[in-house]
Amino acid sequence: MTLSRPTPQAAGALRDKFREVRAASLALAAPLSAEDQCIQSMPDASPTKWHLAHTTWFFETVLLEPHATGYRPFDVRFHYLFNSYYEALGPRHPRPQRGLLTRPSVDEVHAYRRHVDEAVVALLEQGGIDWAVVEPIVTLGLNHEQQHQELLLTDILHALSCNPMLPAYKPASGPALRLASVPPAMRWIAQEGGVVEVGHASEGFSFDNETPRHRALVQPHAIADRLVNCGDYAQFIADGGYQRPELWLSDGWAAVQANGWRHPAYWLASDDPRLGFGGASGAAQNASGWHVFGLHGVRPVEADAPVSQLSFYEAAAYAEWAGARLPTEFEWEAAYDAPGISQMAGHVWQWTRSSYDPYPGFRPMPGIAAEYNGKFMVGQLVLRGGSVATPAGHTRPSYRNFFPPAARWQFSGLRLAKDL
Ligand SMILES: [Fe+2]
Repeated sequence: MTLSRPTPQAAGALRDKFREVRAASLALAAPLSAEDQCIQSMPDASPTKWHLAHTTWFFETVLLEPHATGYRPFDVRFHYLFNSYYEALGPRHPRPQRGLLTRPSVDEVHAYRRHVDEAVVALLEQGGIDWAVVEPIVTLGLNHEQQHQELLLTDILHALSCNPMLPAYKPASGPALRLASVPPAMRWIAQEGGVVEVGHASEGFSFDNETPRHRALVQPHAIADRLVNCGDYAQFIADGGYQRPELWLSDGWAAVQANGWRHPAYWLASDDPRLGFGGASGAAQNASGWHVFGLHGVRPVEADAPVSQLSFYEAAAYAEWAGARLPTEFEWEAAYDAPGISQMAGHVWQWTRSSYDPYPGFRPMPGIAAEYNGKFMVGQLVLRGGSVATPAGHTRPSYRNFFPPAARWQFSGLRLAKDL
């Protein structure tokens, strides 16, 4: 059998990218203490230390053990501890109990990372690898690690939000955030609809759930030129949005009742006792009285900042209140480059009204990676666009994120659409 060989430039470029992405994970964990890195605040969220180990396990299990001759696992027990959901790779430690793993220590997880990093770099620098096999696995592993980099941030933010002191992940650098201002008027951008092409088309990496590119029928509609901002959302709250069942989907209203939702996940009302507990020291009172807890600690809510940490249910209720609806993922993708549209990427993930379903002709990735996306295609909604916590360059217009409708610990917000 003839092996496909990389050029030295291609192998070197992938090695450098590997080092860059792996270092970025450690940089994200650097502001956190060992205690911070061990905590798990809910079953959906994982400890920082677990993210650092699991992304390493992925390279060890999917790349090194099958494809690096003579590779010696760092600790075979880690196969059980740091498998996430891959049934084909055997049993695993229960997800809700990840926060109970005080051992291995953070230092041992760092040693595990170094062990695997050295083996991956050695593999990429040796001449005898089958590039057609190795390159897609390394690229998938790096994109996987970038997904966990965002989860590392959203999970630690949730954990820190459970501490009455509301400690900052790290202090804000640069100028202070602007105080509330009058939100600019939203404009509607009319889209005539018709048959549009959606899905990943160009060269370069995509996840399997973005393919195949295909045609979709989009009805005439209008899409908002910007995201819904905190000023908009404060009006929804002030108008009794969380007390009016007619605005909510049935499951959403049940979630409001069961969880006592009255505002986005990390908003604090002016009478919240935590505001006097050190969390908002020095923060000026803003016009609406709302504060919000974020990665830089407690700050006054900015009226013109995109509203974030919303569930799908809240996004849908807001849209109903506004006399509009959420866009479908196809409307969103078709409008990506529309003249006048803004905030399509890198602010908050945007809930769509589209169920997370396979595209026509969908086929999962081969091998172990078949479990990566396809088996989660039920009971979830698609989000588009990426957030402030998404690593630079990680997303594309065709990128599909997905969460259950009640999830609200991500940087998730919305953009409006309406029928014409
Ligand atoms: Fe994972």
